[in-house]
Amino acid sequence: MDDRIGSIDAVQALLAKQDYVCGRALATVTFLSIRLGKPLFLEGEPGTGKTEIAKAIAAALGRRLIRLQCYEGLDSASAVYEWNFAEQMIAIRTAEAMGFEGAGADRQALKDELFSTEYLIERPLLQAIRPQVEGPPVLLIDEIDRTDEPFEAFLLEALSDFQVTIPELGTIRAEHPPIVILTSNRTREVHDALKRRCLYHWVDYPSFDRELDILHARAPEAADTLSREIVAFVQKLRVQDLFKKPGVAETIDWAKCLLALDVIDLSPQVIADTIGALLKYQDDIQRIEGSEAKRLLDEIRAELAPA
Ligand SMILES: Nc1ncnc2c1ncn2[C@@H]1O[C@H](COP(=O)(O)OP(=O)(O)OP(=O)(O)O)[C@@H](O)[C@H]1O
Ligand SMILES: [Mg+2]
Repeated sequence: MDDRIGSIDAVQALLAKQDYVCGRALATVTFLSIRLGKPLFLEGEPGTGKTEIAKAIAAALGRRLIRLQCYEGLDSASAVYEWNFAEQMIAIRTAEAMGFEGAGADRQALKDELFSTEYLIERPLLQAIRPQVEGPPVLLIDEIDRTDEPFEAFLLEALSDFQVTIPELGTIRAEHPPIVILTSNRTREVHDALKRRCLYHWVDYPSFDRELDILHARAPEAADTLSREIVAFVQKLRVQDLFKKPGVAETIDWAKCLLALDVIDLSPQVIADTIGALLKYQDDIQRIEGSEAKRLLDEIRAELAPA
């Protein structure tokens, strides 16, 4: 066990150095996941730091980050390994040109050569079980809800024993299992059997104070008053009836837009001009623009005013 992640506090401090603001509950499951060698399953709202924590852990520990981006139709050739067919064909043609007879010992030697690691294309799951000089890598299985159930079942197996069998080469087993983080936006429910293998945590939108900490970490150039107004406004938006609520990523983007425009404090006009950084659906934008933006702004000003 790495001393740098020997306690929950240590995990929080280490992630803070990567400008990742980690609440106590998330730090606890992260610590336990690494300590017990169990995959961490993070489900939650979009743009709330699920993917980012994997990057932060890898950077904090100096480990390699291996990312498997999931999508519908993802198969083992893209997730585990495939043979480099084009290179194999070239090798066969070259052998033929050099007088290869295609029989006996010659044939076996060529076959062994063609199915050696030289012609193997390693995809994320295989890469993640290979030993790395820096130590076990961080394997990020991102947006698992986008794959289909057969792949999920396959993953269940792969995560339970961290080994891959390649018929031509044999079984490759991880000497030290990787740190595994799975994320989901819950566009569909992931199977219980897979969840059972993991430690689960729901990543919600952060509280005002935590989001302010995140903004200070990610957009330190923004003055405190402006940052407070930004966070308060975004938090107000999240309780409106919107089709797509802004995540933390949008808060940071919006702050950067406002900084680029040298905005010192919010006004209905500034909000109207930059709302596209926060809301990405025309219906939502129409709801918030104009008098509604002014009303929300008045509300947050009243709340933020010193008592
Ligand atoms: N706790 C946090 N600390 C620091 N930055 C954060 C935090 N949460 C979110 N962010 C910022 O928000 C951005 C988006 O986060 P991330 O991509 O991890 O979201 P996500 O939960 O994976 O979203 P999606 O579900 O859309 O993939 C990050 O690049 C980071 O800048
Ligand atoms: Mg993500």
